Amino acid sequence: MPGFSRREILLGGAGALTAFAAGGLGARQALAAEHSLTLSRLNHSVLPETVTADMMSFSPSGPPPVLRFRKGQTTTIDVKNALDEASVVHWHGLRIANNMDGVPYLTQYPIEAGNAFRYEFTPPDAGTFWYHPHCNTLEQIARGMTGVIVVEDEEDAGFDSDLPLNIRDFRLGGDGQFIAFYKPRNAARGGTLGTVSTVNWQPQPVYELAAGSLVRLRLAVTDLTRVGRYTVSGAEALIIAIDSNPLPQPVAMDEIVLAPGQRADVALRVPDSEDEVAKLVLKKPNGDKVLATFQPRGASAGRDLRELKPLKPNPVPQADLANAEVLDFVFGWSPGGDAPQASICGSLGYTFWSINRVAWGGDVPGPFDPLATLRHGKSYILRFRNESPNDHPIHLHGMSFQLLRSNKRKLPPLVTDTALLLEEETMEVALVADNPGDWAFHCHVIEHQKTGLAGFLRVEA
Ligand code: C2O
Ligand code: CU
Ligand code: CU
Repeated sequence: MPGFSRREILLGGAGALTAFAAGGLGARQALAAEHSLTLSRLNHSVLPETVTADMMSFSPSGPPPVLRFRKGQTTTIDVKNALDEASVVHWHGLRIANNMDGVPYLTQYPIEAGNAFRYEFTPPDAGTFWYHPHCNTLEQIARGMTGVIVVEDEEDAGFDSDLPLNIRDFRLGGDGQFIAFYKPRNAARGGTLGTVSTVNWQPQPVYELAAGSLVRLRLAVTDLTRVGRYTVSGAEALIIAIDSNPLPQPVAMDEIVLAPGQRADVALRVPDSEDEVAKLVLKKPNGDKVLATFQPRGASAGRDLRELKPLKPNPVPQADLANAEVLDFVFGWSPGGDAPQASICGSLGYTFWSINRVAWGGDVPGPFDPLATLRHGKSYILRFRNESPNDHPIHLHGMSFQLLRSNKRKLPPLVTDTALLLEEETMEVALVADNPGDWAFHCHVIEHQKTGLAGFLRVEA
């Protein structure tokens, strides 16, 4: 997989706007502080003229809703489990209290069928996040359980509208029904790709947008497996944030590599005329694929990308690199190859992968040892070494980290919760261990996660 495009975009100054002019108002209605989700099975039409049976969602009637929270505002989410199996809900990228993080046994008991659980937390950061189950994760995500979270900042940047794009594949056969969610031989390699690409559960949706307006596209790659190269064609577009964190300087959206779990916020300037459509495109070696179309409507609003105000950085603490302790993590094959323990949260029946030579034993009560124990408030450099010929999007719960360096490429100083570690790459990242608890740490290719490439870090209170 190429990993250069993102670097090129971020390090190449070409096309970067040096300053956003002030201006652009966007009145937003108050956001509800209380939410509810009903985990449900449903039949739903993804492909035209067929109904896909046995999908799963956070709603009984359609795709997972976009959850909108406000930064610094406490929110509750009442989760009712109307599935016929256990689940838990994880809020990917939100730096919240450990007991609300939604990881079975590590932070809470699985929510059994018919039961409910109230999540309550205060998002500290603004941006684009997502939510998904962490129990029977492969199957529940494969059947549809991935939704976008938007955390609003107090101040609006001046967009005319906001468009969350939940980008993912489904593995459907020609009859529109699910086929095997994965193949073991792929799980031991790069993972199993889906067969139908969708945005917000639709193949190639068309979004009508006010001509000449400024739209905040919120790309969230919630796929199980696909590391993809994305671009926007036919319009001016700037990447303004990656993985919820604003870029110091927006850059032209030539192309961006996004791995499972990653997000990009893109400022789109909708073309002036109804004849000029813009497109979200997945770049593939065997031909580009249009994922969504943006259709201008009406007379041009005549907006300009320079009218946008810069996004405020999130309050992620900066590591003290001079005094940071280095912790090593090696991602590789599973040495023993023992099957994981059976769990009500599902097991694929194989272990192919490991972190520091230990394969995660399955989502069972444990106890398990943490991969490392960190002191509260202390700075750390995490050194990720990938011994394998596959890419791994490495994700940490509860804390964001800063990219420092790699042996393969020049890394931009991005702050993230999910970093794509390329094959045979060694990467260093830094964080402040400011959030006490046991934090899941795993590859976000779900087949890898569920066959051993998982563990947790402990931050002592
Ligand atoms: Cu997206 Cu362990 O999570
Ligand atoms: Cu997460
Ligand atoms: Cu992986």
